[in-house]
Amino acid sequence: MFDNHDIDDIFRGEIIGREIILLDSTSSTNDVANEIGSKEKTPEGTVIIADEQKSGRGRFGRNWISPPGVNLYFTVILKPTLFPENISIITLAAAVAVASSIREYTGLGAEIKWPNDILIHGRKIGGILVEMKSMGKHIDFINVGIGLNVNMQLDALPEDIRPFTTSLQAESKTDIDRCSLLNAILNKLEQIYKMVLNGDKQTLINEWIRLNCTIGKKVSVQISNRIMRGVADSVNDNGELRIRLESGKIETVNSGEIKILADTK
Ligand code: BTN
Repeated sequence: MFDNHDIDDIFRGEIIGREIILLDSTSSTNDVANEIGSKEKTPEGTVIIADEQKSGRGRFGRNWISPPGVNLYFTVILKPTLFPENISIITLAAAVAVASSIREYTGLGAEIKWPNDILIHGRKIGGILVEMKSMGKHIDFINVGIGLNVNMQLDALPEDIRPFTTSLQAESKTDIDRCSLLNAILNKLEQIYKMVLNGDKQTLINEWIRLNCTIGKKVSVQISNRIMRGVADSVNDNGELRIRLESGKIETVNSGEIKILADTK
């Protein structure tokens, strides 16, 4: 069903992978997760994987190209006791799980561009779409949707995004076993998520700093219709980015899209 693998080959941890849903094709694994996330019989850690998505979604309503047989598209349902305003830490956790697993599994230098992008040689190889359902201060569930370009040929991409996008196959010139890579990511996410639940955010932040390509760079960020420029200074322990503006003032952002302008060094 999934190359030469079936559902029994997929990682099952104490939390992540308690339940696995493996689909040939769906609109979007995040849509499936949104439908089932509130149900009592959906345990935390449920993973929905699809071989193909017909309406894969990226951030800001963008389309996520999701052809069959080549890439990874999956969503993990989490139900942490966090306040909704603190969920940026979950994005950091997912980004670290993805980037570090790519490094360990392929030896390629994957990096994290705050908050949700995974890059290799400055080109996007993966993205994370975190969606949440909450009521007041209570989080019902968080969907962590992860898309990774694994064995996709770059000529399958629209021309306008081709210069900024890559796949593991294009970078390593070898076909990657999707199931093994998925298992490496889920296993890593399990370890990191448990650390977050145990209150150890610092180890996660240190690991994020090791893997990121944002801190120390000149960046611009658009929040609604305001554009701020400055130097990415650090992330705080909620996963928010601190930007030092030219005036010296520090602004903290928890969402938005940054553009990396240059190194400060
Ligand atoms: C982005 O970089 O904008 C985020 C892309 C996230 C894509 C993944 S693929 C699995 C899950 N299902 C979706 O429709 N989107 C996410």
